[in-house]
Amino acid sequence: LNNGLGATPPMGWNSWNHFHEHINETIIREAADALVSSGLSELGYTYVNIDDGWGEMSRDLDGNLVADKTKFPSGIKALADYVHENGLKLGIYSDAGYYTCAKRMPGSLGYEEQDAKTFASWGVDYLKYDNCNNGGIKPLDRYPIMTRALMKAGRPIYFSICEWGDMHPALWGYPVGNSWRTSDDITDNWERMLSRIDTNDVYADFAKPGGWNDPDMLEVGNGGMKKHEYIVHFSLWAIAKAPLLIGCDPGNMTDDTIEILSNAEVIAVNQDPLGIQGKKVRMEGALEIWAGPLSGYRVAVLILNKYGDRRAVISAEWDDIGLDPSTVVEARDLWEHETLKRQFVGKLTVTVEPHSCKMYVLKPIA
Ligand code: DGJ
Repeated sequence: LNNGLGATPPMGWNSWNHFHEHINETIIREAADALVSSGLSELGYTYVNIDDGWGEMSRDLDGNLVADKTKFPSGIKALADYVHENGLKLGIYSDAGYYTCAKRMPGSLGYEEQDAKTFASWGVDYLKYDNCNNGGIKPLDRYPIMTRALMKAGRPIYFSICEWGDMHPALWGYPVGNSWRTSDDITDNWERMLSRIDTNDVYADFAKPGGWNDPDMLEVGNGGMKKHEYIVHFSLWAIAKAPLLIGCDPGNMTDDTIEILSNAEVIAVNQDPLGIQGKKVRMEGALEIWAGPLSGYRVAVLILNKYGDRRAVISAEWDDIGLDPSTVVEARDLWEHETLKRQFVGKLTVTVEPHSCKMYVLKPIA
């Protein structure tokens, strides 16, 4: 969407994957505090996004959405002010239907202009717009109405389309929103995580600055996967230029969780100004190579072993990853944080442990 937002994939936190609809203003405020105190906000995680469950079931007498008086007694504007004072941005959630998925608050269908104005008046910076209870109306007869309403609301608001891929939002999403989901919800397990990114990969060519494919939010830190599996999860999301929206409880992160989410070199791949989505370029059984171009003629490469029971020796061939076969490169290992001593030409061969990956930036030597 041409609203000046989303030049690189959005980064931040969202309440859903960990808290579901059991949220309140303390949880949101503490999440914001934790993003700051952990150093994550400085690395670019600036959106603090409230998901489903923030509102009263009925609009007020003027038809305005109202924050749940028990869970958010100070109101959303106060929260927006709070996060802004801390250098962060506030995101909110609504639904392109009659009520939201959790069915405890109204959706915005038919109220787009009014709700967009409400969000803008509260100081909201991001809207995630879900797809439940939509009366069978086509997405293209619902989502662009909110696009136009946001454009008129008087405040730049990142627009996240949460149609779950059924109507291929990647094909129509760019003029409508800043990102669009490519599948239904992630859960905190290895298989489901991988299937989200595989579906997302189908639409790789539709992503570009201003409009991103969204394989759903991160589960890193929620406990369902091992550290090396979360490293795979984070690396895949980064190379695929997916939104990096943390989905754990930022107030209760282990050192491993912080280490993964804070990998500035992996984040830099995600936030590279070229904005070209990395793709799966080769697959042999459960061994995969993912790659994508970066600025400065560099290439990001992810070498993945999906086998659970054996380590594997895998080669990334220049032919597959978009380098001329004669190019000599320097290889930076983004998880070991070291530049390999020898240089490489033609291919890079590495050993990868089960359910693990290696991730590199290859830089041609002048
Ligand atoms: C479905 C979305 O895909 C989830 O990310 C979350 O927003 C829930 N709805 C909320 O009900």
